Amino acid sequence: MILLILRAWLVCSNKCLPFGTFLGKNLEVQAFSNCHNNSLSIDLNYHTDIVTGLKYQSIEYARRWLIQVKNLAFKSIPCASDIYHLNNFYYISSGESIPIYRIPNGSFCKPNEGSLLVYKRTKKLQIGHVAVITYVGNDHISVSEQDWDNQMWNGDYSRNITLKFVNLKYYVEDNEKILGWMSIKNKSMCVDSECKTCSKKYEGKLSACLYE
Ligand SMILES: *[C@@H]1O[C@H](CO)[C@@H](O)[C@H](O)[C@H]1NC(C)=O
Ligand SMILES: *[C@@H]1O[C@H](CO)[C@@H](O)[C@H](O)[C@H]1NC(C)=O
Ligand SMILES: *[C@@H]1O[C@H](CO)[C@@H](O)[C@H](O)[C@H]1NC(C)=O
Ligand SMILES: *[C@@H]1O[C@H](CO)[C@@H](O)[C@H](O)[C@H]1NC(C)=O
Repeated sequence: MILLILRAWLVCSNKCLPFGTFLGKNLEVQAFSNCHNNSLSIDLNYHTDIVTGLKYQSIEYARRWLIQVKNLAFKSIPCASDIYHLNNFYYISSGESIPIYRIPNGSFCKPNEGSLLVYKRTKKLQIGHVAVITYVGNDHISVSEQDWDNQMWNGDYSRNITLKFVNLKYYVEDNEKILGWMSIKNKSMCVDSECKTCSKKYEGKLSACLYE
């Protein structure tokens, strides 16, 4: 009873759970809270001996999910939104690279399970955001992620997000701007190979994120 009240209070006050709290898991890939006072943890996380990223950013979860579930990873990037500019993942075991495809939000192709949903950098989402698409239904998708609201999950996913089909095109609807999703599946009619839907390169300090 006390636990239930505490939980409700935390959700209502929108207070995030303390840094490092276990939030839930998808296919054995565990997610932890990234709630802390200063916005950047400089602690690295590992899966076996592979560096997965900074605890407990959205990039870190996406990379760890790919490693654990698909034996795939992607190179080090400054910001979550930079995932939208990648051209390949690589196999952890062989190092062999595998092409990935940029599917803009609002395309003829439905999102796929295992694709990475990429959010734009904004004033609010300063490094953008990435979530793993772990279920695709007719009117919603489920995603698994870290560093969104840092709240306890209610199932094997962190959130369901509305999927709309309008004039033959699929749209993922959210309050924050979604660029699209990166997929290992190639349906050339939907692939933006020229990066037309990419936002422009960041002109500020090189140490900061490269892309908006
Ligand atoms: C974070 O902020 C809280 C409340 O202001 C404070 O009590 C706590 O010591 C801070 N923790 C760190 C690691 O700075
Ligand atoms: C989220 O979607 C999954 C898969 O369709 C469903 O089982 C679950 O009940 C949904 N959760 C909520 C809160 O709607
Ligand atoms: C998805 O794409 C459409 C078309 O570009 C856009 O109008 C909509 O705002 C986008 N949704 C999100 C959540 O970014
Ligand atoms: C994959 O998509 C790209 C970009 O549209 C296209 O040029 C290429 O031929 C496709 N590859 C395969 C194997 O279909």
